[in-house]
Amino acid sequence: MTQSFYITTPIYYVNGAPHIGHAYTSIAADVMARFKRLDGYDVFFLTGTDEHGQKVEKAARDAGLDTQAFTDRISADFKAMADAMGVSYDDFIRTTEDRHKASCAELWRRIERNGDIYLGHYEGWYAVRDEAFYDESELTTRPDGTRVAPSGAPVEWVREPSYFFRLSAFQDRLLTLYEENPEFVAPSSRRNEVTSFVKGGLLDLSISRTTFNWGIPVPDAPGHVMYVWLDALTNYITACGFPDENAPRWHYWPADVHFVGKDIIRFHAVYWPAFLMAAGLPLPKRVSSHGWWVVEGEKMSKSLGNVIEPRKLAETYGLDQIRYFLLREKPFGTDGSMSHPAIVSRINVELANDLGNLAQRSLSLIARNCGGILPARGPATEDDTALLTAAGALLDLVRVNIDRQTFHEGLEEIWKVIRAANGYIDRQAPWALNKTDKTRMGEVLRVLVDTIRVVATLLQPVMPSSMARMLDQLGVSADARTFAALETPLTDGQTLPPPQGVFPRYVEPVA
Ligand code: MSP
Repeated sequence: MTQSFYITTPIYYVNGAPHIGHAYTSIAADVMARFKRLDGYDVFFLTGTDEHGQKVEKAARDAGLDTQAFTDRISADFKAMADAMGVSYDDFIRTTEDRHKASCAELWRRIERNGDIYLGHYEGWYAVRDEAFYDESELTTRPDGTRVAPSGAPVEWVREPSYFFRLSAFQDRLLTLYEENPEFVAPSSRRNEVTSFVKGGLLDLSISRTTFNWGIPVPDAPGHVMYVWLDALTNYITACGFPDENAPRWHYWPADVHFVGKDIIRFHAVYWPAFLMAAGLPLPKRVSSHGWWVVEGEKMSKSLGNVIEPRKLAETYGLDQIRYFLLREKPFGTDGSMSHPAIVSRINVELANDLGNLAQRSLSLIARNCGGILPARGPATEDDTALLTAAGALLDLVRVNIDRQTFHEGLEEIWKVIRAANGYIDRQAPWALNKTDKTRMGEVLRVLVDTIRVVATLLQPVMPSSMARMLDQLGVSADARTFAALETPLTDGQTLPPPQGVFPRYVEPVA
């Protein structure tokens, strides 16, 4: 039976337009989803929108719109963004859907039945921007007297009746989880952070609100709506059909990996497993967190006017180029800066020169000197073997990096082979062999085609449409682009389509 693989993105708050930070989480998750599909897995890839809570309610009010109408509009925009960025989700969930309301109500009942929910009174700090409760000890005071959370979000004092989740009772079980599953939180720096947070002691968590009503009603508790993070996290099981364990998608649970930003790791690595333990449900296998993008060294913010719209970026530089840049420019787990020169350099040096020229040079020599017919391999020289061995080892190397979400290292492995192929073409000089040894010229070009084929096949998850074009030109049929298909050699003597450049250089527009 095909092994299943379940990948999620966070569900995005619909309080404003999507920006590059949102696109980044989704594209990284998409790369893994596409990689796993090509590697033979039955993948379920989920994304969607987080639509309840005070933050969204306030944004709708500020926009002068009915809350549901507002969320419909922004959710549709997030969906359009995912489509435009090539995010190959299998389902797009919205927390205002009925299936999700039913799922949350059932999860609540199960936790309550196990005795981990009790009614009390919350009095303390709350940051609407983070939709999070904070302890006094976590706050700092700005010069103007405002109290702020570590994220910089202003907090307000909240006092209301509330249901609580007995989070404090889960401390030992959580620590055991992290200890027994070192892969549960990634990267390891975040794992240490989460572990020390839990070791520091856990307070019970307020999980219902009574001062507004834009949320999922707590079962049998008029006036209470669920805390938006309990509601939001539940989306991951709703999409699998919870609570119907006979649902066609239930077998995908537990998730293999939740992709999240570093700002929301605590919710995913502490609260979420605790809720699931309390409900007697299996736990996700991994929470993989990424760092933030800043723009030209500055944090993105509406007030600075430097918020980057992902679709605009794709229009300016090309979608595949941007997907490549996002995964190549910085390690997944750390912060990184985005700038015009950095993007242009990746495009012109790595895509246009290293890869684009390599393919174009090899294929145009076949077009010109071999009548467009794919030549056969010959007896391998030492130089041939070295390159082909490096290409043959690539799948395993890249797979390891995808499984660890070290995307930039996986790409570096691929580029080592591309650079080796460029060295090979220069040394072998097939253009010169055209006059002296036509057979050997064909053999050299075939070694190049076979190498570029591996590279293009492995790069499909990152740059789907450019690599589809490259594989077309290499004569790889559409049904032979999986990783398993790499085992089957291309057919000698087939006619290749005329080569066309896949990666144009970025040229500054004339002002
Ligand atoms: N709704 C919650 C998630 C609930 S999941 C059950 C949420 N939404 S969000 O829209 O605010 O953020 C979603 C993701 O975008 C987070 O993973 C966050 O880290 C990411 N980013 C937001 N700004 C970012 C950058 N500037 N850079 C990179 N990613 C950032 O949190």
